[in-house]
Amino acid sequence: MNVQIIDRIEQLRTCVTTSLRLGRTVGLVPTMGALHAGHISLIDQAVGDCELVIVSLFVNPTQFNKQNDFEGYPRTREEDLLVCEQQGVDVVFAPSVKEMYTGSEQTIVDVSYLTDHLCGLARPGHFRGVSTVVAKLLNITRADFVYFGEKDAQQLAVVRRMVEDLNIPTQIVAVPTVREADGLALSSRNQHLTDEDRKVAVVIYNALVVAKDAIVSGEKNAAVVLRIAREKLQEQPLARVEYFEIVDAVDMQPVEVIRASVRAVTAVWVGGTRLIDNVLCCPNE
Ligand code: PAJ
Repeated sequence: MNVQIIDRIEQLRTCVTTSLRLGRTVGLVPTMGALHAGHISLIDQAVGDCELVIVSLFVNPTQFNKQNDFEGYPRTREEDLLVCEQQGVDVVFAPSVKEMYTGSEQTIVDVSYLTDHLCGLARPGHFRGVSTVVAKLLNITRADFVYFGEKDAQQLAVVRRMVEDLNIPTQIVAVPTVREADGLALSSRNQHLTDEDRKVAVVIYNALVVAKDAIVSGEKNAAVVLRIAREKLQEQPLARVEYFEIVDAVDMQPVEVIRASVRAVTAVWVGGTRLIDNVLCCPNE
């Protein structure tokens, strides 16, 4: 294998120091593994942009609210390493939980406001776990560029805020959502769907498209857009909506009147699986 597999922080620091001395740009793609075409799209972009590409594979315990969700998270290390090798990744950073968290830490990174609604409501502490681990990964790798998917729009907004607030010297690259042919956003969680769930799940994207179409056609009242989208979701009684909102594209706060670009964002339970998705909607000026 050409890809270097590193599980120790100090070893990764040494590797990065050597690259930086040679003037190489460092790119980081943070992931929790179980890599699919969505992750590969981030990796490909990083490989195109940067001279040292690091993919982290770390199922971060601090961002899970439920122990069984953490334990049941898919782990496919060997396949992930193969994907990284095939895509031309230079380094896979796959630390143990003990390597990342000694158990004696007393510092967390907590982005407020942005995290108190949408996914933050249903998953208390989730974004604290995300922002803390991403801050640690950025400090460890000193990445010039870091890649995130638009699929997790609130996560992207939280990381953008953190990087700006803490003056972290990295540039965030947002990568469009990769979808199945019928529109379902790729997600590591899709593998938990039964065949029936899978058929139901497409309603998520269909509802987002209905919202987008209404906005593009000139609907300015968010309540009207929400009603149309929720009607679409109700066509599938097996889909249980946790939230469906129209939010400002930058600060992710709900809007009532649609004047500029917004995101339709949703979290839906299908069977025992929680799926999230969103689309950017630009009104006709
Ligand atoms: P994970 O769910 O593995 O996702 C890693 C990255 O892949 C995230 O930036 C996510 O937005 C992106 N991604 C997932 N599905 C995608 C799709 N269908 N199209 C495009 N990009 C997609 O998100 C996390 O891990 C963690 O919270 C992490 C940031 C690694 C911190 O632990």
